[in-house]
Amino acid sequence: MFFSAECCDAHEGQIHRTCVTAATMHIQMAARFLLVRSSPSRVISVSQTRHLSTKAAQSVELTSERYPDVRRGNFSKLNPGHISFFESILGKNRVLTDRADVESYNVDWMKMVRGASEVVLKPKTTEEVSKILKFCNEENLAVCPQGGNTGLVGGSVPVFDEVILSTTLMNEIISIDEVSGVLVCQAGCILEVLDNYLSERGLIMPLDLGAKGSCNIGGNVSTNAGGIRLIRYGSLHGSVLGIEAVKADGEVIDCLSTLKKDNTGYHLKHLFIGSEGTLGVVTKVAIHCPPAPKAINLAFLGLQTFEDVLKTLQLAKHSLAEILSSCEMMDNPTMQAVTQNLKLKCPVEEYPFYMLIETSGSDSKHDEEKLSKFLEEAMSSNLVRDGTLTSEPSRIKQLWQLRERVAEGLVHDGYVYKYDISLPSKMFYAAVPKVAEMLRETKAMRVTGYGHVGDGNLHLNVTSKQYEHDLDSLIESYVFKWTSQVRGSISAEHGIGFKKPKVMHYSKSQSAIGLMQQIKKLMDPKGILNPYKVLPE
Ligand code: FAD
Ligand code: MLT
Ligand code: ZN
Repeated sequence: MFFSAECCDAHEGQIHRTCVTAATMHIQMAARFLLVRSSPSRVISVSQTRHLSTKAAQSVELTSERYPDVRRGNFSKLNPGHISFFESILGKNRVLTDRADVESYNVDWMKMVRGASEVVLKPKTTEEVSKILKFCNEENLAVCPQGGNTGLVGGSVPVFDEVILSTTLMNEIISIDEVSGVLVCQAGCILEVLDNYLSERGLIMPLDLGAKGSCNIGGNVSTNAGGIRLIRYGSLHGSVLGIEAVKADGEVIDCLSTLKKDNTGYHLKHLFIGSEGTLGVVTKVAIHCPPAPKAINLAFLGLQTFEDVLKTLQLAKHSLAEILSSCEMMDNPTMQAVTQNLKLKCPVEEYPFYMLIETSGSDSKHDEEKLSKFLEEAMSSNLVRDGTLTSEPSRIKQLWQLRERVAEGLVHDGYVYKYDISLPSKMFYAAVPKVAEMLRETKAMRVTGYGHVGDGNLHLNVTSKQYEHDLDSLIESYVFKWTSQVRGSISAEHGIGFKKPKVMHYSKSQSAIGLMQQIKKLMDPKGILNPYKVLPE
C-alpha cells in the first residue's frame, strides 16, 4: 500500500509523506502526489491565434508553386461585377479586398499552404450565406469556407483564387436549454466563448482542444474535431444533435433538431459532420452539452517504456472508469519541444514517456479515493515512476499547457510534417522510432510522438528548419503505407483537407470513395465548394 486511505481521510484529502507506507525509494515519489483541495473551475487555455502580418503571410510559398501537379479547376475569375454583387448583400465593410486584409486568410495556421484569393466575405446570417452561394454557383465561382483557420491539413485556405467565405461574424448564441443541456448557436462561435458561456450555467462543451481560443464550432463540426475529451464524451457524430447548412446552390437544409432521439429518415447531419466544407456551409449547430464536473483532478506522470504507458491506460480505464475524462501521452522529444521552444517547465524528472490522466466527477472525495487507489497500484507495480497530482485549477491549467501547446512548440522549429493517425493500441508508438531511425541522416530536427492515447490517436510529427521536399516525400511514402498495413486510419481527427486526398485509398475502399464522389456530385454538381480538398480527383 502506498497511501493509507484512513490516514488520507484524516487529513482531508492531503496526501502526506506520513500517509505513505511504502518502500523508501517510493516515498519521495509518492510525496510528489500532493493533492490540493480547492473548488474546481473550467480550465481555459490561452488563445492559439496567430494573426499573420502581410509580410509573414507572403513569406509562405504559394500552394500552386509548391504543388504544381494540382491544376486550377475550370472556375470563373473574380471580376468587379462580382465584388459589386457581394457588396450589395453585405455592404462594403464585410467584403475584404485590400491585399493587406485578405492575405492572412490565405495562409493556414501551420504556414504550410498559401492561396491567392482576392476576396474575403463575412456574412452574418444564413440568408446572406445562401445568397452568396446561389450567386457563386450561378457564376461558377469556387468558394472556400473558413472558420477559425486552425485546421491542420490545409483545408481552410484556398488553393488558387477561391472566394473565402469566413464565418467569424456568425457568432450568435441562439438558445440554451438548461434542462436538456442543448445549445443552439451560429457556426462562427468560438469554442472557448461557448465553453465560458456554458460554465456560467453549470455546463461544458463536450469537446476541448488546444485551438479552443480560435477555432469555431462550425469548423469543429466540419472537421469532426476530436481533442482531449473524446474519451469521455465521444465524437461530434453523437454530441451534435442538429445542423443547419447551406448547399452549393444556396438551398438551406434545415436539420437543426434539438432532440436526443430522432429517427426520422436518413440522418443528414452526419453528411456535414467531417465533410470539411465540401458538401455545404454549416450555419447553425445544436449540440448536447454535459453538466460541468464538480471535481477535476489531473495526474502528470513519468514512465519508462511505452509498454508501461499502455498498461497504465488499461489500469486507468478499469480503475477510474466513469470518472476518466482524458488520457494523453507525450514522448520525451515532444517534451523537449515545449520546454526548449516555449520555455515551459516539466513538472517531473526526465522520462522517455509522460502521461496526463484527468478525472472529472461529481464527488471529490469519491474521485480522490479512486485516483489514489489507481496511482497506488500504478506505482507499486512500477508502471509509473514519478508524477504530480493536483486539483488546483491554476495548476491544472499550467500542466495542461505542456500538452495543449505541443503543436505551437513544434512550429517554432520551422516546418512541421504532421501525421494524425489512428492505430491499434499495440502498434500505437511503433512507427515513431522507425521514422526516427529512417531520418537519422537527413535534415529532420525532431521526430516526436504524442497524442490521444486513450482513443488510439497518435500524432507523429517531424520538424525541420524549413520545408524540405525530399523529407516530405520520404516520410509520406512510409507512414501512410505502414498505417494501412497495420489497419490504422491515415486521418484520425484532423481530416483530409488539401494534404491527403491522394492517400485516402490507404484507409477507404474504392467503393466507399466512389459513393462519396457521387454524394458530392449530387450536393454540389459544379464542384464549387472547397475544390481540391478531401476527395481524390
Ligand atoms: P478551419 O480551420 O477554418 O476549417 C477547417 C475545415 O472546415 C476547412 O476544410 C473549412 O473549409 C471547413 N469549415 C470551417 N468552417 C466551416 C463551416 N461553417 N461550414 C463548412 N465548412 C467549414 N483538431 C482536433 O481534432 N483535435 C485537437 O486536439 C486539435 N488540437 C489543435 C491544436 C492546435 C494548437 C491547433 C492549431 C489545431 C488543433 N486542431 C485539433 C485542429 C483544428 O483546430 C480543428 O480541425 C478545428 O476543428 C478547426 O476549426 P476551425 O474553426 O479553425 O476551422
Ligand atoms: C493535438 O492533439 O495537440 C492536436 O491535434 C494538434 C496536433 O496534432 O499537433
Ligand atoms: Zn490531437
